[in-house]
Amino acid sequence: MTIDFVTIPRQSEEMPMLSRLNEQPFVAPVELLKDEPMLFSASPQFALQEGGPLTLEATTFLLNAGEISLDRGNVVIDTRVHMLKPGWIPAIGGWHCDAIPRGEDGQPVLDHPAIPGIRHYLLVVDCGTGSMTEFLNHGSLITELLQKVASPGKNLWGEHSEEINTYLSDLVELGADRSEYVTTAESGALYKFSARDYHRAIPATGHGWRYFFRASVNTMVKEPLNEIRKQVQVYLPHEDLGW
Ligand SMILES: [Fe+2]
Repeated sequence: MTIDFVTIPRQSEEMPMLSRLNEQPFVAPVELLKDEPMLFSASPQFALQEGGPLTLEATTFLLNAGEISLDRGNVVIDTRVHMLKPGWIPAIGGWHCDAIPRGEDGQPVLDHPAIPGIRHYLLVVDCGTGSMTEFLNHGSLITELLQKVASPGKNLWGEHSEEINTYLSDLVELGADRSEYVTTAESGALYKFSARDYHRAIPATGHGWRYFFRASVNTMVKEPLNEIRKQVQVYLPHEDLGW
């Protein structure tokens, strides 16, 4: 794809919104991090009852900040704890957006009317893995130019991921500073982002443990499942896999 570096205005209600909410980072010793129960599709109430100390702290922070509430069924919280070795990825690789509703073909529907109402909160507490989520910065115009529908036999996020990686490497080759286009999450920082914020997990660079917390709001799930998970997987190092 040839990229024309022009500014294309976005609709204001769909602006990406990556922002950091906490000044003081959440921290935990590795012994405590290892013991965090892993929650899947948990309500805030369930997270407060069944989550470990970090989950309790992050959920309470969001409640106190008025970002989520206990009395509406529109919040689901997922937490995961990974032991990682260098090269392992704690999520399916590749740039993507979270919780974009999918169509009958199983692929994301990028103009779905629910998208402007969706928001997410992310916290990663790292003890040695170096596997910190990367976000594509708001000024990265590539996202406006990506195809809306997957090519036959391919998946949309995989294709978008390849385009974004090409865009970033082209920029670096032209002398750009990659950090102006990509924000790497800091351990212990709680981020708010939208369903239009592209991000990706990156492979671990060291041996260690990693805690992941995500609260998602208005993602069209019927109701929280409130499951405690006892398994977690790592993924093969393919940067543009998608799903
Ligand atoms: Fe994601």
